[in-house]
Parts: sequence; structure tokens; C-alpha cells
Amino acid sequence: MVKKLLFDPETLRRAGRLLGEFLATYEADVTHRSVFPTIDRDALRMIRREPLPEEGRTIEELFQEFRDLIVPNSTHVAHPCFLPYVLPSPNGICAFAEALASALNQNCNLWTLSPAANAIEQRVISWFHELFSFPPESGGIITSGGSMANLTALAIARDTCLGDAARTEGLQRKTAPLVLYTSQEAHNSVDKGAVILGIGLNHVRRIPCDSRCRMRVDLLKETVFRDRRDGFTPFCVVGSAGTVTTGAIDPLDDLADFCGEERLWLHVDGAYGALAVLSDRVRPHLAPAGRADSLSLDPHKFLFTSLEAGCVLVRDAEAMRSTYSFVPSYLSMVSDPDFLDYAEYGPQLSRSFKALKVWWSLRAYGRKAYAEAIDRLFDLAAYMGERIEVEPELELLVPVTFNAVCVRCRKLSDAGNANVLARLVSDGTAFLGRAQVKGWFCLRACFMNLRTTREDVDHIVEQIIRLRREELKSPEAFEK
Ligand SMILES: Cc1ncc(COP(=O)(O)O)c(C=O)c1O
Repeated sequence: MVKKLLFDPETLRRAGRLLGEFLATYEADVTHRSVFPTIDRDALRMIRREPLPEEGRTIEELFQEFRDLIVPNSTHVAHPCFLPYVLPSPNGICAFAEALASALNQNCNLWTLSPAANAIEQRVISWFHELFSFPPESGGIITSGGSMANLTALAIARDTCLGDAARTEGLQRKTAPLVLYTSQEAHNSVDKGAVILGIGLNHVRRIPCDSRCRMRVDLLKETVFRDRRDGFTPFCVVGSAGTVTTGAIDPLDDLADFCGEERLWLHVDGAYGALAVLSDRVRPHLAPAGRADSLSLDPHKFLFTSLEAGCVLVRDAEAMRSTYSFVPSYLSMVSDPDFLDYAEYGPQLSRSFKALKVWWSLRAYGRKAYAEAIDRLFDLAAYMGERIEVEPELELLVPVTFNAVCVRCRKLSDAGNANVLARLVSDGTAFLGRAQVKGWFCLRACFMNLRTTREDVDHIVEQIIRLRREELKSPEAFEK
């Protein structure tokens, strides 16, 4: 019998129970798993080689396979010692929000295909506007993540500079090359965006940073003025509200002043850090991001939603529409003052109902719970920094000002430090990241994990010291 693609109500209930049971068990035992799995390569080879199935399986079989095959061969992002990237352990509500969003399968391109989702996306975006004091008439859209948010904004910046010719001529018309400015510490999605948009890497100026990894505004000014003299067209500055390695916040007020005076588009990449604004403690440092023309922020970072959920806010909603609005005859777009057709505000046509998990995250927990979680993570990072500063065998490469800690083992070469990191991961102690700070290789812990404790930090520091001592026994490990 050909299996029906729809489930009857009883099967749906069974599947729901299996999902709830899995989530509860995983929550209870994830702490005891090894953060990085011992990969069963034979099992994964079997997955890669499996012929297309002719017949279906039961939901019990599928869940069993998920537990036996997928989970043990997955990296446990939710493990308390998973600290390598800006990748949080998701909050509790998102798995359910994702399931419900799939069930309704709203297409968040036209409001007629998603009226409630449309109201929710508008509300979420306007909450973000309020957090950064963007004016109420500003625009915004939920994206898949920070890279897409940056790309979405940079296209608007480019088109605003090119004016009417943006759509008809693009960059094919002979004009002085457009130049974009960002810091040496900015995320590479800025480079990627510049390449995709035809700006080209030769026209991305990476401005040097100060000792705390913040863009040097004096050098930015010099570079912009020199470029103008040399016949280029400076069009956009990308500041960071949380650089990817250290979480440094560029001098956003100074950048906003300069961009205002020089009529440059200011985009702030707050994919990593901007939503830490939910904390009263962090807010004053991030508030100047509200002066930007556009701002990226990632709910799948400090809102702890599951992947994917990014967002971009744009001060001038009409500028967004100028870049993205195409109204073809095969879409019936019925304008209504209460709704927005998001297809006109971003590059995608079909769009999933990501706004539900963002909305539910904020409504399930409230801002205060977020403030508490964020403060706790910042405190953990500060605690690790303090621990490192009193350990003569370790060196803190940059003061801890956000939730990232960059540490290096003294007397060990870069290769020796890399070995310590590799051992830490392969021992199953902790998954830390790698980074380059001021030209030095370092181990990087980014505290985004809701389960991490001070005891975990103590353990990780002790293990780094132990591995350093072992590494020092090898003659090649010494710093030259
Ligand atoms: C500063 C910054 N910008 C952009 C990104 C890219 O975000 P996403 O991975 O959501 O595309 C990241 C990712 O960590 C980041 O830290």
C-alpha cells in the first residue's frame, strides 16, 4: 500500500509524545555526553550510501534511528562545555515553536498568506526598534542569520548611493568605484557581502584597531578622505557591535557622527552582540547602535533561539522597498495599511514563519529573564578572565569586556597552543574555538551556553594548564 503522506490524529499524538519524550531525555542527559562525539564512521557511511527508500518507516523506527544514530554522531551544542563559537544552547520553547510553524506553513512573503504571522513579525521588529530607539516608521525583516542580514543591508546602502541607476544599470555604468570601510576585526560576512554585491575586495578597506580591538576612527577618516581625493566613492561604513573574536564594540557614536557629516551609510553589524541590549548592564554600551542607518542582530545568538533567526533593522523603510520591491503579475498583492508584504523588503520570496520562535522566546520568558541570563554569561566570562590573570602559566590576550575570553599558554608556540586546543577537544573536556588576536594564536571561549557553571570554568582552566605542562615536554612546543 502506498503510504499516505498525512498522519491520522492518533499518529500525530504518538509522534508528539515521542518528541516530548526525546526532548526531556536529551535535556536530562546532555551534560553527561561527550561534547564532541566519537564519530561512528561506518554508521555515517551507511547514511551516505543508503539507496532511495521505496517503502516508508514507522515514526517509532524513525525516532529510534534518531536516538541511536543521529544523536551519538552529533556535536552537543547544548553541552555546558561547548564554547567555541557564538552559538548558544537553544532555549526550551523553540523546538515547539518550530513544530507549530511547520504545521501552519505560513508563507511570510505576502500578508494574505500569513496574516497573524505578519502581525507577529511586525511586532517583533518594532520591539527591536524600541530597544535601539529606531523611529517607529523604520523597517526591518527577519532573516536566516547575521550574514544575510548584513548582505540585505549592504545592498540597500549600495542602492541608496547609486540612486535610480541602481536597478537599471547596477554597477555596469562607469562610475568611480564604490568603497566600503570596516575594521580589521569585522566578521567576514562583510567581505562576502561586498563580493556578492559586486563591490569587490579591493574596495573593502579594513581599518586597523586599537589595543582593545575597536576600529580606529582617526584612521577611518584619513582613509575616507584619501579615497575621495583619489577618485573613489566612499559609500558605507560597517561598525561592529560585538566583533566576532573578542566582542569589542566599535566607537559607534563617533562612527555615527562621522557618517552623518560625510553622508555615508552606517551599517552596524550587531549579529553577535546587539541583542545583549536586553541586559540593563550592557545596554548603555550598545545604545549608540540605534544611530545607524541599518543594524543586524541575531535572535539565534542572545535570544537563544534555535537556528535560524537573524534580523536587520533599517531606518528608512522606503529605501528597503526601493531595493527589494518587485511586483510580478503572478502574485496578487493586496495592500492594507495594517500589513506589510515582506517579499518587498528582502531578497527572499518564500519565507518561513521564523517570527514565531522569536516572539514566543520573548513572551515565554520576558526581558528580565534574558537580562539575567546575559548577565550570568558575562559574569562567567569575567570570572574566567580573572582566573587566567592570576595563573602565571596563562596569558589573557585582551581584557574581557564581553562574553568572549581569549587565552594563550605562555612559553608555548602557536603550534603548541593549537595542540593544547586539539587535546582539550579530543579528550572531550571542552570545545573551545581558535582565534588570532594581535597576531597571536589563542584559545577562545565564548559564553553563550545556558548550562555552563563556574565549576565548568574551573575545570577548563585546570585542564588547559595540565595540557600546557604536557605540551612543554615536547621541544617543538616552545615559543621562539
Ligand atoms: C559579528 C558577526 N557578524 C556576522 C556573523 C554571521 O552571523 P550568522 O552566522 O548568523 O550568519 C557572526 C557570526 O558569529 C558574527 O559574530
